[in-house]
Amino acid sequence: MKAAVLASDQFDGKVALVTGAGSGIGRATALAFARSGARVVVADVAEAAGEETVRRIEEAEGEARFVRADVADELQVARLIDACVETFGRLDFAHNNAGIGAPPAALHEAELVDFERVLSTNVLGVWLCLKHEARIMLRQGGGAVVNTASLAGLIGFPMHVAYCTSKHAVIGITRTAALEYARAGIRVNAVCPAFIQTPMVDRLVEAGGPRSSLERLANMQPMGRIGTPEEVADAVVWLCSDAASFITGIALPIDGGTTAR
Ligand SMILES: NC(=O)c1ccc[n+]([C@@H]2O[C@H](COP(=O)([O-])OP(=O)(O)OC[C@H]3O[C@@H](n4cnc5c(N)ncnc54)[C@H](O)[C@@H]3O)[C@@H](O)[C@H]2O)c1
Repeated sequence: MKAAVLASDQFDGKVALVTGAGSGIGRATALAFARSGARVVVADVAEAAGEETVRRIEEAEGEARFVRADVADELQVARLIDACVETFGRLDFAHNNAGIGAPPAALHEAELVDFERVLSTNVLGVWLCLKHEARIMLRQGGGAVVNTASLAGLIGFPMHVAYCTSKHAVIGITRTAALEYARAGIRVNAVCPAFIQTPMVDRLVEAGGPRSSLERLANMQPMGRIGTPEEVADAVVWLCSDAASFITGIALPIDGGTTAR
């Protein structure tokens, strides 16, 4: 399996925000931004987990600050974005990554409360973050944003109607924002990971009953394995970098070949 991104100084002087950075993909991206020289704002609802990400960044001689924020709450999001500027003076990159799933259920049996909870975090959360990030980036004259959608934003996923709906919406937000801000120097893209080894997938396997296993998920992907959080982090960092300077509005599959079928 592939190692983490190489250290570089390409983001020296830059500031990156990562939501859901206390775990999985968000933590890997926060570490990857720091390794590339950015100062990082680590945002999460889970305080101990977010502080642990900061500790790991500092251990690797990076600079980071934890801010507790629920992305579904506009006041908390506004304060989070203001905290980025107050703490580090600017905001260059954002990875709007916080997201949740719901227990698997057939569409006609899914609960309204689960649907609303998933849409609040995954859809309103991404929109609210972008809304307030854009406020700063417009003032600064540019920036780059990556939203975490999913393979479930590109194709249907039986038994996961709320999650699948939410991730399709993330791609809609991404494309709309990319067009609105294209001339303002703000690029907005989405990543669409298939199964990635994180606590979210561990929970999915647990909820899936006796027939569910990591091995089964791995075998659903053409490469025969699930991905690592670092493989998603690499793509996020690349999309934020000047190497992707003419790329905006894309929904990039990171899926071991799944969408090639
Ligand atoms: N793991 C996968 O296979 C996979 C595949 C495709 C997409 N994704 C997406 O990637 C993102 C990260 O998933 P992960 O697998 O790393 O999950 P994870 O559960 O390991 O981490 C998610 C983090 O988000 C935080 N969070 C949840 N709700 C929040 C809120 N309202 N405000 C702020 N933080 C909140 C959690 O506390 C947690 O630290 C999610 O958007 C998920 O939908 C994951």
